[in-house]
Amino acid sequence: MTYNSKRRAVSICAAVAVLVAACGANSVNSISADPRNVTWDLNVDAQKVLGPESCEKCHAAETQTWKQTPHFETLHTLHRKKEAQAIAAKLGIASFKTDSNCIQCHYTMQQHGPALEVVSGVSCESCHGPAKDWINVHNNYGDSGITRASETNEHRRQRLSESIAAGMRNPINVYLVAQSCYRCHTVPDEKLVNVGGHSEGSLDFELVSWSQGMVRHNFVRTDGKANIESSPERLRLMFVAGMIADLEFSLRATAAATEKTTFGLTAAKRASRAAERIKSAQSKLEQPLLDEILKVYASVSLKLNNRAPITEVADQVHRLGLKFAATVRGEDLSAIEQFIPPKSKWK
Ligand code: HEC
Ligand code: HEC
Ligand code: HEC
Ligand code: HEC
Repeated sequence: MTYNSKRRAVSICAAVAVLVAACGANSVNSISADPRNVTWDLNVDAQKVLGPESCEKCHAAETQTWKQTPHFETLHTLHRKKEAQAIAAKLGIASFKTDSNCIQCHYTMQQHGPALEVVSGVSCESCHGPAKDWINVHNNYGDSGITRASETNEHRRQRLSESIAAGMRNPINVYLVAQSCYRCHTVPDEKLVNVGGHSEGSLDFELVSWSQGMVRHNFVRTDGKANIESSPERLRLMFVAGMIADLEFSLRATAAATEKTTFGLTAAKRASRAAERIKSAQSKLEQPLLDEILKVYASVSLKLNNRAPITEVADQVHRLGLKFAATVRGEDLSAIEQFIPPKSKWK
């Protein structure tokens, strides 16, 4: 699929260079002190997947919450659904969990020697990145005896930066996790939609309302005792970051379109709708990065078989989205407070 391209990693790296002066997998120590300035790879590398059991011993409450969601359940329910069987029949898929593209979005795969095995539905690592290289980094406060409370700010920054450099989609930069959602929820697969009859993605996906209901698992700050709501400032940032990610991934889907039917038309419409939303927010916010995003968007034509130019624009939106989440504060977004979905709308 297009979003797994090597090219992307390079261009993200170039963008990060703008932000942090240095980039590259081996330059952990030269990464900026601000861990929100980041790069990451969109692949969920099965070689590096550990599985949700490896998180549970320290994140029991998060795991319990996740187990109540369709992300967990799809492992057990998908292959039993009539609609899923119909899609598989149209695509000639014999087994959902081995030889299908369903695994990209419905399952988490782990590499066992030459074999790929399904270990879970949509799991922690689908959203936070495969954990092999960061699991022992993200929780390391330094010397024993140091706790979350006594860790220095400098050490915290270093720890977060290193975890991200090792592939963690740490919610400290909210665009990192926003991308995870839209990667799947835009369903950027033409054949799956046009031939298989799969839905064209979650057209009403909006980051605040879709992440703060059943999906929310904010237990870290209370040591697992309470699932706290994110602050209004953070929700504003999420709201705008979600719009930007919607634009990025609708553009990626549009870039993959070769036929003037359901898939291509829906993707292009979705991209143009996302741009309209950003425009409308920008009329209140006047944020230079949103202007840049709209300019980049306006420079490309959303026509069929226009993969390279549209992908290039999506890459630029991507860089700007990461930068937006790294540099803009929710306090500066109060002009759109009235548009943030209220609790009654949280899924
Ligand atoms: C040995 C215990 C331990 C294990 C295992 C563990 N974590 Fe954590 N995790 C922590 C601690 C402690 C924190 C809080 C760090 C802090 O204070 O910022 C944390 C924080 C996080 C955060 C919040 C971001 C951050 O850095 O503060 C995410 C996301 C996360 N863990 C995901 C995972 C996932 C996914 C797994 C399994 C692949 C996992 N963790 C396994 C201990 C663990
Ligand atoms: C690019 C990501 C992606 C791929 C690949 C994908 N799906 Fe999905 N699928 C989704 C998302 C996201 C949803 C939830 C859409 C919604 O309702 O908002 C979904 C929903 C579904 C549903 C409806 C679930 C329900 O609750 O009724 C079925 C059935 C389904 N997918 C079957 C399949 C099959 C079969 C395959 C493989 C041939 C597949 N999907 C591949 C992303 C994907
Ligand atoms: C690896 C792919 C993937 C990722 C990443 C992902 N989702 Fe999903 N999501 C799905 C699929 C597939 C379904 C439908 C599962 C089913 O019904 O079988 C789904 C369902 C949901 C649902 C339930 C929808 C309903 O109407 O019941 C919510 C809410 C949701 N996702 C929110 C999110 C959010 C928020 C994020 C990012 C923080 C996210 N998802 C990331 C694949 C993904
Ligand atoms: C559907 C995508 C998705 C899945 C699956 C997911 N997370 Fe998260 N996670 C997020 C998002 C988005 C946030 C940030 C939410 C916010 O700020 O309100 C987050 C935040 C966190 C945090 C920090 C919460 C805090 O208190 O600040 C931890 C820890 C965490 N996740 C661990 C896990 C673990 C462990 C699993 C698996 C059991 C998991 N996540 C599964 C998307 C996901």
